[in-house]
Order: sequence, then structure tokens, then C-alpha cells
Amino acid sequence: MPRPSRLPQPSSTASLILKRTRTRPVLGIILGSGFGPVASAVEVEQEFAYRDLPGFPIGGAPGHAGRLVLGRLGGIPVAVLCGRAHYYEGFEPAEVTFATRVLAALGVRDLLVTNAAGGIHPRFKVGDFMILTDHINLMGMNPLRGPVPEGCARFVDMTRTYDEGLRSELEAAARSVRLTLRKGVYLAVSGPCFETPAEIRAFRTLGADAVGMSTVPEVIVARQCGLRIVGLSCITNAAAGLGGKAQVVSSEEVLEVAKKREGLATRLVMAFAARLAT
Ligand code: HPA
Repeated sequence: MPRPSRLPQPSSTASLILKRTRTRPVLGIILGSGFGPVASAVEVEQEFAYRDLPGFPIGGAPGHAGRLVLGRLGGIPVAVLCGRAHYYEGFEPAEVTFATRVLAALGVRDLLVTNAAGGIHPRFKVGDFMILTDHINLMGMNPLRGPVPEGCARFVDMTRTYDEGLRSELEAAARSVRLTLRKGVYLAVSGPCFETPAEIRAFRTLGADAVGMSTVPEVIVARQCGLRIVGLSCITNAAAGLGGKAQVVSSEEVLEVAKKREGLATRLVMAFAARLAT
């Protein structure tokens, strides 16, 4: 028999939040590396530290604040997860995705997931933004393994995971801030080491355009919860073996590039939220 989860019901954490906020969010946003400053564009109505929210994991990745912010962005009510827990930190899949279930229980209909990723597509440049058209899960785990939450499906359809309508809105938002968006397939690995050049060649053969260590668990759970999903990567580095002879892939480079692009990332996410308002 599977071990019973130590986690609370996401709905009980959601009710606690809803009791302390007037915001009824329609859009959930998960801010990954390089997207943190998006939170400063929110007209904040209420915020919580993750440590005050039962079941929320306290991650330690740099640039991941560990705050849930509720308020308005681009004129619509939003719930923003500033920072995520990663599988590579040692969290269980259910812990990594707990906050996503809470967003669904708060009543959000749409979810924007963001991350930093290594570029695999030969035309991608460092600093590009990529809208996710699909993903490949090579994390070696699935967050839906185990007991089925009440009202959820056991076997979840993953065709058209990334919503066409939301993708068009994100593309239109990008045009409005004069940004050319790339499109592609995000491949998720567990990390925490970066990939070998041979792995990256293999991933290219598999159809991947970018590689990262997050997002896919949350997306799978969001899909089980029936949310409409849109995904955005900041390409912070050439994936291993694609950056020239002297290349070293480092988290310093990832964070440095993400930092340079955070202003544009913020304008893009604001413009996207504003489009959902109309
Ligand atoms: N590989 C995996 N994860 C990443 C990378 C990478 O090259 N860049 C940013 N996150």
C-alpha cells in the first residue's frame, strides 16, 4: 500500500488563504528563475510567506522568494507563486506540486508557468524567450503517481496541454512589447547536474528545443486540475556542448542572463495579464 501523504488537503490551505484575502484570482502565475521581479508589478492586496501556508514547501533555490502574492496585474486578479520547490532539492513530487493544487483550489482558471532553460534549438540565442508548445518529461517521475485526489482523473490526457488560446494571447502580448518569441518543446530533467553534450544531442534527436529542471510536474498537476496552461522559458544559456569549445554551463550564467532579461519578462507578463482582462 502507498504511504498516506503527510500533506494537508490543498482545499484546506486554499480556504485559509481565501479567508484572509478579498482577491479571487482568475490567473495563477508561477515565477521561476529570472521572472521573480514580475511580482513587483502586482498591485498587492495580500501576501503570505510559504512558511505560513500549511503544505507549502520551503525551497532554497536562489531567486526563489517563497511568497504567495495576491492582487491585481494588468487589471485582473492574480495569485502569484514567487518561487517554486524543485525536485532536485529533494522534495517529493507531491510537495513540488502542492502549491499548484492550491492555486486550482483558489479558483484560478488559467496558469502561466515560467522558467529558465538551456537552449537546444540551433537558432535560439541566449536571452530569447520561448513559448512552450509541448513538453517531454524525462524527470524520471510523475507527480500523479499514487492515490487519485477526489474529483480528479486517474489517467490524464496530455494532448494540447499548452492552451492554443492562451498561447495566442502571449504571442500578441509579446508583439505589444516588441519582443520576438520563440516557440518550442521543453524537455525536463531532474537535475541538479547540468547535462552532458551527449545527452543534449540525444534530446535534440528526441525533439527538444530547450532543457530545464522544473515546470513539467506543475503542468501535469495543473492539467489534472483542469486548468488552462501557458508556459514561458527564458533561454539563459546554450545547452551543454552547444556553446563552443570553452563552454562551461553554470548557474551563475543562468542567473546573470535571467537578471538582464527580467525587465522585459515583467513587461511581457503584465501585457499578457492585461490581454486576459479584455
Ligand atoms: N540545463 C538544465 N536546466 C537549465 C539549463 C540547462 O542548460 N539552463 C537553465 N536551466
